[in-house]
Amino acid sequence: MTIAITGASGPLGRATAERVLETVDPSEVVLTTRHPEALADLATLGVTVRRADFADPRTLVDAFVGVDRLLLISSDAVGSRLGQQRAAVASAFEAGVRHVVYTSVPEPVPANPALVVADHAGTERALRDSGLRWTMLRNNLYAHLQVPGIEHAAVSGQLVTNSGDGATAYVTREDCAAVAAAVLVGDGHEDQTYDVTGPAALTAADLAALASEIGAHDVEVVVVDDLAHQAGLQAAGVPAGVAELLASFGAAARRGFLATTSSTVADLTGRAPTALADVVRSARP
Ligand SMILES: NC(=O)c1ccc[n+]([C@@H]2O[C@H](COP(=O)([O-])OP(=O)(O)OC[C@H]3O[C@@H](n4cnc5c(N)ncnc54)[C@H](OP(=O)(O)O)[C@@H]3O)[C@@H](O)[C@H]2O)c1
Repeated sequence: MTIAITGASGPLGRATAERVLETVDPSEVVLTTRHPEALADLATLGVTVRRADFADPRTLVDAFVGVDRLLLISSDAVGSRLGQQRAAVASAFEAGVRHVVYTSVPEPVPANPALVVADHAGTERALRDSGLRWTMLRNNLYAHLQVPGIEHAAVSGQLVTNSGDGATAYVTREDCAAVAAAVLVGDGHEDQTYDVTGPAALTAADLAALASEIGAHDVEVVVVDDLAHQAGLQAAGVPAGVAELLASFGAAARRGFLATTSSTVADLTGRAPTALADVVRSARP
């Protein structure tokens, strides 16, 4: 069986590829990317590296030929990727791929205000309608992305949020990669949807407690509305589009769309998911 991974030069793609190569012969692995030169080290192991760019559909069928099972990593072009990812799904079908595994988001339903939802819901729909077998990996928010905000709060004494009392089941990228690799090399995952989460759903108060632990003083939670949060992020130098995206995740958390925890990481990898607290502590000098 030949396994392929798109976006394989990105952090999730490379980490998943390295896990797959722990048990699969390199001759049965295809890595696709916009930057083949970035995977030269894996090519020397005997892995096939091909160029594929969702924005250039002419590259896609050739990139997927001979592949049985494909991890389609969602691109980072939020808002413009849906058409590209639909093209990737159609190309996978045309190339004869049997099973596509897709990196999605928790609860991709219309009521979820996270700005990434429309792209993921549309791609999930395209996969379900494609005639391919599929697996949805609904990865929660990455734990490491919370570290700078927690460290800032530890210094300033305030953790500003628009998530209210809402909780988020932060997960490490390494755990996401381990789950993706387990699905790629294992059996019985066709037509399954997995919530990929950390061990616990944490509120802003929980993050403030972590900030208090690493800082010199108590950290208070300051709750603001969505627009104020977005404006505050922009005032701190965050680009407008990113600030809007982050505020939308806060709104999604407040409304309960990120709070589901699951046993997926333990079930599929055989080890417990890493807690955000451990990520924060290990980031300390
Ligand atoms: N759960 C979360 O908190 C979280 C956070 C950030 C991102 N994500 C999602 O998870 C994905 C993987 O993220 P990551 O952790 O590896 O970090 P990342 O730096 O956001 O990775 C970007 C990925 O998008 C791929 N990509 C971008 N444009 C593409 C195109 N036109 N055609 C094909 N692939 C394209 C890149 O592949 P190449 O460069 O190899 O072509 C790379 O795999 C992201 O793309 C995003 O959809 C999730």
